[in-house]
Amino acid sequence: MKRIIINGGNKLGGKIGISGAKNAALPVIMAALMGQGESILYDVPHLRDVNNLIKILNALGAKTEFKDNRLLVNTNALNKLEVPAKLATQMRASYYALGALLGRYGEVTTTLPGGCKIGRRPVDLHLKGFKALGAEINRDGCIINLQADKLIGDKIYLDYPSVGATMNIMMAATMAQGETMIENAAKEPEIVDLASYLNVMGAKVKGAGTNLIRIQGVKKLQGREYTIIPDRIEAGTYIISAAITNSQLYIDNVLVEHINSLLAKLREMGIKIKEDVNGVEVIANKPLNAVDIKTLPYPGFATDLQAQTMALLTQVKGQAKVTETVFEDRFGHVSQLKKMGAKIKVEGNAAAVQNSNLIGARVKATDLRAGASLVLAGLAAEGQTEIEDIYHIKRGYEDITNKLTNVGAKIKEVEQ
Ligand code: EPZ
Repeated sequence: MKRIIINGGNKLGGKIGISGAKNAALPVIMAALMGQGESILYDVPHLRDVNNLIKILNALGAKTEFKDNRLLVNTNALNKLEVPAKLATQMRASYYALGALLGRYGEVTTTLPGGCKIGRRPVDLHLKGFKALGAEINRDGCIINLQADKLIGDKIYLDYPSVGATMNIMMAATMAQGETMIENAAKEPEIVDLASYLNVMGAKVKGAGTNLIRIQGVKKLQGREYTIIPDRIEAGTYIISAAITNSQLYIDNVLVEHINSLLAKLREMGIKIKEDVNGVEVIANKPLNAVDIKTLPYPGFATDLQAQTMALLTQVKGQAKVTETVFEDRFGHVSQLKKMGAKIKVEGNAAAVQNSNLIGARVKATDLRAGASLVLAGLAAEGQTEIEDIYHIKRGYEDITNKLTNVGAKIKEVEQ
């Protein structure tokens, strides 16, 4: 197993380029199953999760070629509607097969996902949507089978603006008969990206990015070319790497409007951020003020940046409060940050973060963003930090060691 070793204390400088968004690429890759013929997807990041979904496409009979962030998917030979359990249980996003295959073929079987250990991760809202469209749901433990002679559009209210449920229901509805309305839909940029790709393939999706999405069903979708949006969470993570090391960095290929909530909070802390049409210049060169953060569905503060921001908040003057409202168990990074000297007290879904002097230690990534938080803490800590279980980090950060090395970080991967 590989470990990441970081010798902290270095100032960073230069430019980091952002890759395509993991959380847009995953649903878009599964949506490619809905298109007849061939889709070519650009800016697809080379990540563990992407490779796992490509294995699922191949297991279903689709042909794929993936090189230099370009993924070709051809569905002409697609001949299976069951996702192998050993692939499905590797990650939560495998459940996007439900919406894609139910939508196109009226049948699908998969096994409920594993994914990050950040709370129960139910799929009740996904199933509520499929049922509303007329699917018969057969469950045997973790195995889910959906069948529908025909899907008929309906009005679906999401009790919570779930990203995954919005994406899954949107996919299934694109080929249902008549109109579907998704009320209280999630508004994340990745939803807009999926809707854009579906529309390029011939779907009729309106309102993505608002809390009311309207879909007119069509008879077929045609494989097309599409380019994935930049990864706002990767961008936020590297912006924080500049802040936590008191450095100046240019982060290239950023859609600034996707990270307004983060930029607002960093500016409140006293970090200077200059925006231009391609990216942001981050200038951190003075003591930072404490700010409180509370995660919320988009456009609120992103839960996927909570762990990384908590690492930064150990370096600011005074006490900060971090409240996690999206997932009920997303403080796995706290115990590991405390091993590095962080003074953090958790009560329920809130953590009080005191100014702490971070010292390098041997720590473990407990999930993807917790791992990112430990990398950031390692950059700021005195001495050496060793991070184990870095496969979590590889799920969501393309080439993280080289990207940070290229801006002056002392970071490397070693065999355990
Ligand atoms: C997506 O997960 C992202 N993953 C997550 O990013 C992200 O944290 C999350 O959205 C919120 O933004 C991908 O896009 C692959 P949800 P998802 O459904 O779709 C509850 C990362 O680090 N819920 O919006 O699983 C659920 O329990 C990952 O890149 C139900 O109750 O998130 C949670 O508390 C981590 N019933 C809340 O909604 C359901 O049927 C938000 O979940 C579905 C969800």
